[in-house]
Amino acid sequence: MDSKSSTLNVDGTSVEMSIKRGTIGPSVIDISKLYGQTGMFTYDPGFTSTASCESKITYIDGDEGVLLYRGYPIEQLAEHGDFLETCYLLLYGELPTAAQKADFDYRVTRHTMVHDQMNRFFQGFRRDAHPMAIMVACVGALSAFYHDSTDISDPHQRMVASMRMIAKMPTLAAMAYKYSIGQPFIYPKNDLDYTSNFLRMCFAVPAEEYRVNPVLSRALDRIFILHADHEQNASTSTVRLAGSSGANPFACIAAGVACLWGPAHGGANEAALKMLEEIGTPDRIPEFIGRAKDKNDPFRLMGFGHRVYKNYDPRARIMQHTTHEVLSELGIRDDPLLDVAMELEQIALKDEYFIEKKLYPNIDFYSGITLKAMGFPTSMFTVLFALARTVGWIAQWSEMIEDPSQRIGRPRQLYTGAPRRDYLTVAQRG
Ligand code: SDX
Repeated sequence: MDSKSSTLNVDGTSVEMSIKRGTIGPSVIDISKLYGQTGMFTYDPGFTSTASCESKITYIDGDEGVLLYRGYPIEQLAEHGDFLETCYLLLYGELPTAAQKADFDYRVTRHTMVHDQMNRFFQGFRRDAHPMAIMVACVGALSAFYHDSTDISDPHQRMVASMRMIAKMPTLAAMAYKYSIGQPFIYPKNDLDYTSNFLRMCFAVPAEEYRVNPVLSRALDRIFILHADHEQNASTSTVRLAGSSGANPFACIAAGVACLWGPAHGGANEAALKMLEEIGTPDRIPEFIGRAKDKNDPFRLMGFGHRVYKNYDPRARIMQHTTHEVLSELGIRDDPLLDVAMELEQIALKDEYFIEKKLYPNIDFYSGITLKAMGFPTSMFTVLFALARTVGWIAQWSEMIEDPSQRIGRPRQLYTGAPRRDYLTVAQRG
């Protein structure tokens, strides 16, 4: 019979702590009373053994390589559904009926335009500004344009802000891309589906009609599904912590964008492609594998390894399939980067170091090859990740705001600095 509590002996004091069980996955020991009863904190830098919250949205089994959105396997959602259906599922907890899906699509579509003065906001950036720098700024600036949906205590305003962000991220992302290449912004068109609209805003020019390739649109829509949510990863935890202070939703999502930018997180897709380009040819792979294993070399195989997945990232498998589908549709018979990536994967997965440390390709390993083939510059890869992850951030933020036990997140520390000491005047400092 599973125990309902655990006892911790601290300096002769026995502390009983309840054990909470989830639907599936690891149970948790509730340590919330530990400090009050022992005067001690737990210590877990990087939160490798810490559950920060209770959630019903996404479940990951890292050992089995399982990813569920509201209980549905990512493989099934990616195969049968579209991104806005996944958005509805993550936000509301159930797959939509036909009528619910039509209404949701209609509502998102009619929020895709941004306040026209944002165009002037863009003019302040250098043309060579990194698109992620622009996204951090513009997403945060949405709260300066949409004051009527910043009151987090009002469920209607929370819903409007959520719709606005899901709808406007593609428009802002496309604007960031267009601005970086000196082309005019393309307005959204309401008769296009979400991802086709985004592709057109990125690649159409006023000088001629643009026909969206349905195979590429479907592939990118599937890539968005793969990136939509992922439990309490670094950027989602950032959004939750920012939201716990009562900050407005646009500011919270901007914080998530900023955190995602790091190369250890969402920035890995950009870093992985740059790594594949640096390797260049399969004969150089052993040199880089050696560097990745060298403790004295900070180099890591970008797109490999994961805090949770100690098996193949299920998203990476679907991503690899999508890569082949896109390259085939574009008539790219042999992509040297794909050759390097597949050879690198084969060699790494047979290498004792990677086997022992359970390092497998993650979602970022193949995504860059696909996005580059579609015509996106490397600097846009993490922007696309942020576009897709916005719905996950919002769903997790909403779950936190609606949790009656929610309070401001405020971790403590182990202090190892100077003990109390008195001020010395300059003359006393020697
Ligand atoms: C994402 O959390 C999420 O869910 C994130 C994400 C999401 O959808 O939100 O899945 C998206 O961020 C995917 C991960 C993208 N990042 C990368 O591909 C960057 C390369 N990977 C690593 O930096 C690393 O694997 C992390 C950051 C992903 C995970 O780091 P951990 O869990 O802190 O693991 P670690 O750094 O402690 O590594 C454990 C060991 C170490 O060796 P030892 O110190 O034990 O000897 O494995 C080694 C590491 O040196 N290691 C690697 C490696 N990743 C880990 N060695 C070589 N190459 C790598 N890629």
